[in-house]
Amino acid sequence: MNKSMEIPENKNIYYFNSIDSTNQAVRRLAEQDAAHFSIVIAEEQLAGRGRLGRSWFSPPYSGLWFSILLRPKLLTPPNAAQITLVTAVVIASYLRDHHGLEVKIKWPNDLLLENKKVGGILTELKGKPDHIEYLIVGIGLNINQQQSDFPTNLGLQAASLSTISGQLYDRTELFLSLRDDLIKGYGLFFSNGFNPFYHLWKKYTITLGKKVTITWPGGTLAGEALDLTEEGALLVKDSLGNTKIINYGEIK
Ligand code: BTN
Repeated sequence: MNKSMEIPENKNIYYFNSIDSTNQAVRRLAEQDAAHFSIVIAEEQLAGRGRLGRSWFSPPYSGLWFSILLRPKLLTPPNAAQITLVTAVVIASYLRDHHGLEVKIKWPNDLLLENKKVGGILTELKGKPDHIEYLIVGIGLNINQQQSDFPTNLGLQAASLSTISGQLYDRTELFLSLRDDLIKGYGLFFSNGFNPFYHLWKKYTITLGKKVTITWPGGTLAGEALDLTEEGALLVKDSLGNTKIINYGEIK
């Protein structure tokens, strides 16, 4: 299964056999003035990164590890987190509509199949409090791995499209189709805002209506996830009945 992708020559797609992290590579390109929608994709990452300082398991020839550079003109930093939700909706819609996979979204960035994580999104931003210079959206999707390919510490919570469906996927085709859908989705988001994605996010999520414990660097909150605000934050009712707005964190 050591088959490389066949990515067509395209001045905005930078393909690597092996790289530290595609997010890091996009950051380096962004600092050299690379264009809006430039993409770095690699067969393998040697230092793939997840959220909250974790590493991301990125073995060769089996997943999709890519990052997209965005230079939004009008988006402000408080709305940047919506990019993660938009990305999750576009990927879930693509996998549902074209591959019959019932992908669910766990707030804010986990893509799940049968309650196991098949993908994640790491969004990073450079800017000032009132201005975004650029955003990097890093996407990791487990595609053709077998269950035994995952390290034991991930094995129970992680899956690939293949472990769930029993099929092998053409990663080149998946990537090129997803790229087209993401570029369309970001275009819609930049012109019309989060609203076109809001209802689909609510349809696909497993988070709402559940008891959750949310942690973030320096804090934790237990309660019930009531709703998503139109800005993309989570509304959580705590044990005293107070409703809190959570913009950033992770659900245990
Ligand atoms: C998470 O769920 O914690 C986010 C995982 C994001 C992984 C992707 S793989 C491509 C890009 N490059 C990285 O180093 N991380 C993201």
